[in-house]
Amino acid sequence: MNPIELDALSDALLARVRRKKGHPFNPDRMTRNLKSTREQLVEAVNRLTQLGYSLKIDGKGRIIFRSAPDSFLPAEIANGLKTVFVGRRVEAYRSIQSTNLIAHRLAMSGAPEGTLVIAESQTRGRGRMGRSWHSPHGVGLYCSLVLNPRIPPTMAPGISLMTAVVLAETIKEYGKIDVKIKWPNDVLIKGIKAAGILTELSAEIGRINYVVVGVGVNINHGRGDFPRELKKQASSIRIGLGKKVNRVEFVQRFLTAFETAYVLFKKNGLAAMRERILLHSSLLKTTVNLKMGRKTITGTVVDIDDMGHLVVETKNGLQIFSAGEVTSHHNR
Ligand code: BTN
Repeated sequence: MNPIELDALSDALLARVRRKKGHPFNPDRMTRNLKSTREQLVEAVNRLTQLGYSLKIDGKGRIIFRSAPDSFLPAEIANGLKTVFVGRRVEAYRSIQSTNLIAHRLAMSGAPEGTLVIAESQTRGRGRMGRSWHSPHGVGLYCSLVLNPRIPPTMAPGISLMTAVVLAETIKEYGKIDVKIKWPNDVLIKGIKAAGILTELSAEIGRINYVVVGVGVNINHGRGDFPRELKKQASSIRIGLGKKVNRVEFVQRFLTAFETAYVLFKKNGLAAMRERILLHSSLLKTTVNLKMGRKTITGTVVDIDDMGHLVVETKNGLQIFSAGEVTSHHNR
């Protein structure tokens, strides 16, 4: 069997055995159903085992499925995913420079809307403002979505805020946990950053070619997974919740909620999501410093408007910001 045939047989075998965990599947019936030989079946079992599946062949040659790995394998992401277009095409990597980089390449070569690029680790994960994103192996979610919204480029920053809401809500489904959005696109757990979003677009005047939404979530990072300089500034779902979370299930929940929010966003912009944004926002009614290039402006956040802009009351009156670095203002 060539690698493509082996992958196809492995996928078909997996689809059958995973329906009944712990059940011993008769090998003769299986070879008949899958139109393979016994040897090929053993090869497929070995291939799946290599990928992290727990499968056994018992003394009678029967195949028993025990568990699937918590890895971002396309078959795992697809298993039970209920979206229509988000995450329907998946490019998965063990290690890659940056999923955003690959997503740009795919978008330029015409990848369909909703294409997902996902990796177990990144060697040059990109953050906002030219920073890097720490992406250790097997503990986080590092992914990018290719989108083709027919919206004016000025609406694109709203996609980040929308994604932040979806992430915050997805994390909250796991239990009692203090999750907030820090405008424009950070997600904080107990006030410390646990997820970030890097939205990049290719556009001409007045028209978007495509958008890449990069999402980094610290999921099962323990404190030891962060380098010293990040220890005080970075948290994870595991740290906030006190237990690990299945990453495949997390990405499926995220993709499903993302699709619903994105369809709504394309129709109505952020308007329909405004309450959810305000509900989760960490900055509302707080005094902040906003860094705009070399200038720093201080004021109280009074609103986030329908365009996702931050509305700040300053000594010169109300001011509206579409971007910027925000830090809390501490009166001395
Ligand atoms: C931030 O600075 O807060 C944004 C971080 C975004 C990180 C994610 S990880 C997946 C995707 N690929 C990248 O290189 N960056 C984004």
